[in-house]
Amino acid sequence: MAGLLYLLEEVNGLTVQEFMQVFGNVVEDRPGVAAHVAALRPFSGVEQLTDAALLYLDTLPLDGKRFQGGVKGDPSLGQYFCRCVCNQAIPTEQPLLLVMIVPTFADRGCNVNMITDTCLFHTGKEEVLRCHPDLAGRLSEEGKLTAESAREQHAAGLHKLTLENKRDIDQLNKRYKEKFGFPFVICARENKANAILLGLKRRLDNSKESELEEGIQEVKKICRLRICELVSQ
Ligand code: GUN
Repeated sequence: MAGLLYLLEEVNGLTVQEFMQVFGNVVEDRPGVAAHVAALRPFSGVEQLTDAALLYLDTLPLDGKRFQGGVKGDPSLGQYFCRCVCNQAIPTEQPLLLVMIVPTFADRGCNVNMITDTCLFHTGKEEVLRCHPDLAGRLSEEGKLTAESAREQHAAGLHKLTLENKRDIDQLNKRYKEKFGFPFVICARENKANAILLGLKRRLDNSKESELEEGIQEVKKICRLRICELVSQ
């Protein structure tokens, strides 16, 4: 979607499916974030739209259970629903968040009872981090990154690492994942290869709790920049 700038009025007028096509990856492989934002339209400014996505990330629980199930009585709707909402965290102690999601699906004949049955278990911040590919990792080598991630890694210069830097990043990424159970996430557009290496080294000493927090702050920066690429200010 790079290069396609939407006006805010256009964004407000997109169908949910169109909205999901455009904004579905503002958080890597977490379309539930866009589904949540879609339901909060209309927005009066890009900042408001961005804040909705960032606030949503902030309100996720630290961890959660993988969503399993579908929407009663409609397998195709169930599939659509799973794709958009599965792994989306709606903390059971915050039923209000659920209410925000429902309008997203109302135009597909979904009602609140169908959805509440399927929304009890969701994932949280840790899963958001886990959905990010390694920087300069296997997916990058195999050309299998999402378009957004490929552009970001390219912007950081990760396509032209020296052999030594590539080996260091691989080793540090591995150690990081072994320690924390999720990949190292940093806003690649705001950091060149050297800063990424330094960040990896520094953050390896952190506790899991502070890495969950710092990782999500980086996801928020990435998300903000991805939205800026899509909507004209
Ligand atoms: N920073 C910006 N994009 C990415 C990504 O796709 N993966 C990781 N690990 N960090 C990023």
